[in-house]
Amino acid sequence: MVGGGQGAYIGNIHRLAARLDGQWQLVAGAFDVDPARGREFAIGQGLDPARSYGSYQELIAGEAGRADRVDAVAICTPNFTHYPIAKALIEAGFDVICEKPLTATLADAVALEALARESGRFVGVTYTYSGYPMVHEARVRVAAGEIGAVRTVQVEYPLEWMATAIEQQGNAQAAWRTDPTKNGRGGSIGDIGTHAYHLAGFVTGLKLESLTADLATFVAGRSLDDNAHVLLRYQGGARGLLWSSQVAIGNSNGVRLRVFGEKGSFQWFQEQPNELIFTPLDGRVQTIKRGAEGLSEDARVRTRTPPGHPEGYLVAFANLYAGFAEAIRARREGRAPGALGQNLPLAYDGLKGVAFVEAVVDSHEAADQPWITPVAV
Ligand code: NAI
Repeated sequence: MVGGGQGAYIGNIHRLAARLDGQWQLVAGAFDVDPARGREFAIGQGLDPARSYGSYQELIAGEAGRADRVDAVAICTPNFTHYPIAKALIEAGFDVICEKPLTATLADAVALEALARESGRFVGVTYTYSGYPMVHEARVRVAAGEIGAVRTVQVEYPLEWMATAIEQQGNAQAAWRTDPTKNGRGGSIGDIGTHAYHLAGFVTGLKLESLTADLATFVAGRSLDDNAHVLLRYQGGARGLLWSSQVAIGNSNGVRLRVFGEKGSFQWFQEQPNELIFTPLDGRVQTIKRGAEGLSEDARVRTRTPPGHPEGYLVAFANLYAGFAEAIRARREGRAPGALGQNLPLAYDGLKGVAFVEAVVDSHEAADQPWITPVAV
């Protein structure tokens, strides 16, 4: 692992998720931007001091020469560091599991996706919400035509934790997320809008045709958007509406997806992730429960506990890790991956996410974006 050291957020989630199925072992790390703190953290995690590195460059140099070198490296650092770290790892022959957004700039994303493709190295991107079994169930059912052709998709990711200027009060996570040189050009849209965009495309299979966006920065002194509204036009005529917000008081992690087709709709809410709501045209609303009989193989292989024993975020994350392990093994063994190793977020999905952010910011900044005031307001 690179990043995810003392006090960091997502690194610990990766460690827990990777361990859930016993498929991964954490054996080496460069966990911190501060080399001494990183080494100390690694030793505290029980790692061999010889594999407790001070930087990702040291990790690459140290691991490259070992017979038991690491199979893959998880990148859990701020966005602007993903590209140089991933590039160096791929060039040294390591598979990579990278946090989203794939990179902080479009040029880096294009270069990294090309490098992944040309090198043949595995690059997984942790779009967490595509790890949930009921999200897979929705994907399978939409693809099977259960709600007919999709007409409109409503997807949102509201958060509240940045409703005040916490980046000016010593919050390290908020500090880099509000710095365009570290986060990228999109604030909330890059940080969480990318999750929502991936989720909508993952479940519906729709490809974007074009978009128009309105960004806002509500907290004084902040340099990036903390609220984004985006209108989406998908290829084939479907429409979408995406909302990301870091200032939506009352929402902890309110990821919500609603897909409306010709014959019915699906709704999924990540704070109740064990349920998928299906409403057919006759209005007889059905709650489809995770673990119930008759669900798709894609949902089943991602389910650990019987219905009624709640699963959640950590299992969704673990499903990505189990899937990455299966995909990497299948590639080595020259076979097709099983269901767990399919439909995974990969480098191209990461590139699409960064391209989406760039288009959103470009749209918002475009001088000719039409805003029309009605004659009576
Ligand atoms: P954080 O600020 O809590 O932690 C970053 C860690 O990376 C720190 O330990 C820091 O010392 C370390 N670091 C920074 N530069 C480094 C370098 N050059 N070498 C080694 N370590 C370095 O950040 P947080 O919130 O954990 O976010 C990290 C990444 O994870 C971001 O890209 C973010 O977008 C993504 N993320 C993804 C989530 C998901 O649901 N998939 C949720 C939260 C974050």
